[in-house]
Amino acid sequence: MELYEQLTAQGDKVRSLKTAKADKADVDAAIQLLLKLKVDYKEVTGQDYKAGCPPSGTAVSNDRQSENGAEEDTVDPWNVATNSAKGVDYDKLIVRFGSSKIDQELVDRIEKVSGQKPHRFLRRGIFFSHRDMNQVLDAYEKQKSFYLYTGRGPSSQAMHVGHLIPFVFTKWLQDVFDIPLVIQLTDDEKYLWKDLSLEDCHRFAEENAKDIIACGFDVNKTFIFSDLDYMGSSPEFYRNVVKVQKHVTFNQVKGIFGFSDSDCIGKISFPAIQAAPAFSSSFPQIFKGRKDVQCLIPCAIDQDPYFRMTRDVAPRIGYPKPALLHSTFFPALQGAQTKMSASDANSSIFLTDTPKQIKNKVNKHAFSGGKDTIEEHREQGGNPDIDVAFMYLTFFMEDDEQLEKIRQDYTSGTLLTGELKKMLIETLQPMITAHQENRKNVTDEMVKQFMTPRPLNFNF
Ligand code: TYM
Repeated sequence: MELYEQLTAQGDKVRSLKTAKADKADVDAAIQLLLKLKVDYKEVTGQDYKAGCPPSGTAVSNDRQSENGAEEDTVDPWNVATNSAKGVDYDKLIVRFGSSKIDQELVDRIEKVSGQKPHRFLRRGIFFSHRDMNQVLDAYEKQKSFYLYTGRGPSSQAMHVGHLIPFVFTKWLQDVFDIPLVIQLTDDEKYLWKDLSLEDCHRFAEENAKDIIACGFDVNKTFIFSDLDYMGSSPEFYRNVVKVQKHVTFNQVKGIFGFSDSDCIGKISFPAIQAAPAFSSSFPQIFKGRKDVQCLIPCAIDQDPYFRMTRDVAPRIGYPKPALLHSTFFPALQGAQTKMSASDANSSIFLTDTPKQIKNKVNKHAFSGGKDTIEEHREQGGNPDIDVAFMYLTFFMEDDEQLEKIRQDYTSGTLLTGELKKMLIETLQPMITAHQENRKNVTDEMVKQFMTPRPLNFNF
């Protein structure tokens, strides 16, 4: 996929050099590189490069087998599954998806450019992968602004703790870089995929908007929209949807998303709707018609297939490719073999849960890396790498030293499973109660304000 993207970019470069009637030597050099990339591509994929057709082996939704026959992790917008109790092998995923690792150098750079201590999600590798983040920072250093885009598929009234991850991080990015944010609520997507009425999906979008607003977003810098409402009211948005639709074939979406002949046509064209907000011209009220403002998308890596497609199309319709920051998954209570998912109520701690429900769920369901008896545990210690309570603390405990001490004490056997779970319960209960308090203060009027297409407090 990476080679494919390089090739597409090189093809664009050759075309623009020719259009600009550049020096023959420059054009020849660019063509030589293009030819070399084509040879490499054939070697790696066994296929000839075809503009607009990503390599067919990049489908993400089928169960995958690696070259040596071993089963690979499944990661797509609908399923996350691995055999490992430690969770998905994210290093392998980076290679498979062709993204780049967020290494210490990049974390340091974000710190330098933003002038802020990196968020714990960056310090701890929870946001672990990116596409083009250095390009965003290069431009930002030259006073070129960018904007944030993230989203939520409103499939039910209640969001779970895992859903907070991208929103908490997006809020931090908005605060430190002081930039506009658009949040897409894909009520249309949920209608197409689930057995729900359009009215319910639209109502869930407004309910979920309250949870999102409760994360603390600034109304002067944030536009939240329901697809069902915004698509019909913004000609510019719909134009971009149609442009994307024209540049992606049925074969491609089959390859990327695993759609079959019996999927409804709404599903097949939906990816274009998730792509459109990545282009600034979809929001003329915010960007005053500018189509060159770069977009940065924070999300968990399950959403990457949508944005691989978006990045492939972008230069062909004259727009910059969106950059991405990918997070790992907040695991299910039963263990890191799957992600926390709203469709499995037992796997989840919901933002509506009471302190008592949180306590019961953690004590009853959270998979433990401890030993069977206290004696054994004291003697041999526990395994924090597979322990769900410990994993949850890595997401939400702010103090690095305290977290490290817990790791050591649990590994040595000084800290027991019950004690570790108690720490988690005491971290989650006040956090979720505070969220519920914030949500109570979000009025219908405020939701309306956030969801009204309008200029934001930025000069573009
Ligand atoms: P949805 O509603 O499935 O998820 C919303 C956001 O939460 C992330 N997420 C998780 N992150 C960590 N751990 C988990 N267990 C977990 N479960 C979900 C998702 O990656 C996502 O960022 N089609 C999208 C809605 C959407 C969108 C976007 C998301 C539209 N445009 C742009 C991100 C960016 C969806 O159904 O998300």
